[in-house]
Amino acid sequence: MSKQKILVARAVFPETIARLQQHFEVEHNQADAAWSKHDLIARLQGKAGAFTTGTERIDAEVLAACPELKVCANMAVGFNNFDLPAMTARKVLGTNTPDVLTETTADFGFALLMATARRIAESEHYLRAGKWTKWSYDMFAGSDVHGSTLGILGMGRIGQGIARRGAHGFGMDVIYHNRSRLAPDLEAACKARYVSKEELLKTADHLVLVLPYSAESHHAIGAKEIAQMKPTATLVNIARGGIVDDAALAQALRDKKIAAAGLDVFEGEPKVHPDLLTVPNVVLTPHIASATVPTRQAMADLAADNLIGFLVNGKPLTPLNPEVLK
Ligand code: GLV
Repeated sequence: MSKQKILVARAVFPETIARLQQHFEVEHNQADAAWSKHDLIARLQGKAGAFTTGTERIDAEVLAACPELKVCANMAVGFNNFDLPAMTARKVLGTNTPDVLTETTADFGFALLMATARRIAESEHYLRAGKWTKWSYDMFAGSDVHGSTLGILGMGRIGQGIARRGAHGFGMDVIYHNRSRLAPDLEAACKARYVSKEELLKTADHLVLVLPYSAESHHAIGAKEIAQMKPTATLVNIARGGIVDDAALAQALRDKKIAAAGLDVFEGEPKVHPDLLTVPNVVLTPHIASATVPTRQAMADLAADNLIGFLVNGKPLTPLNPEVLK
């Protein structure tokens, strides 16, 4: 029997391609060329599966143009690049990569919080620019992390990982807001207290965003929300671009409405709002929260396992819309 055809839409580990080739006829993009939607549709012709990352939009137009497509396996836990209702309507399975990146991403969230609160990037740029000629008492004085109040908006697995680090490692008072309240045992494990969004904004010394992007969470943090935060507060976004109104944040940072921000994700990335590039009190990283070698390998393995699991064995590991399996 001839092998089913799949498309790997972005460059990945050569071992992942080799593994997929054992099961499928694979068209890949190891040159990591930037494909338009038109290119993606053309390459998906005759393919039963797609290995995607968060950057390929799978929407009703793509689905209508690719009737043989049965599964899209995202190498990401977030899946806002999928129009999941449209996929379900066409009986196309979507999968993502939960769990394997939780601790690594929580580590990064905490690193970004520390770098932001303690002004690490700003002071490093100063030193590299040769501006450090003498020490002074208030040089790059930031805010304390230990013993402060950590606010978390979006309390899924990664949010809980950050909460545990804050509560157990840094003696922080952890508060959170989420669509639904955690079960008491989960709250106890990360010593976190549920509060309203308003109280979270008003009380947090450090606010970390870890909620999924959707029409409801678009600009969940804009000028109005920032105005409710403490002028000494820091804001960290490791969730998705679009959750923060980046233009409003840049203005607020310039006006010192809050002390600082740390951003790993941006509206319209890889473009970054030009005003964010010119304010000093923001740490900017290029969407790398899950980027350690072992975790990226685990994510690629899980995405490949989902394709093999579904197309070869009928059993995907982490389906997003399991109703299509019925
Ligand atoms: C990264 O942003 C992911 O969703 O895995």
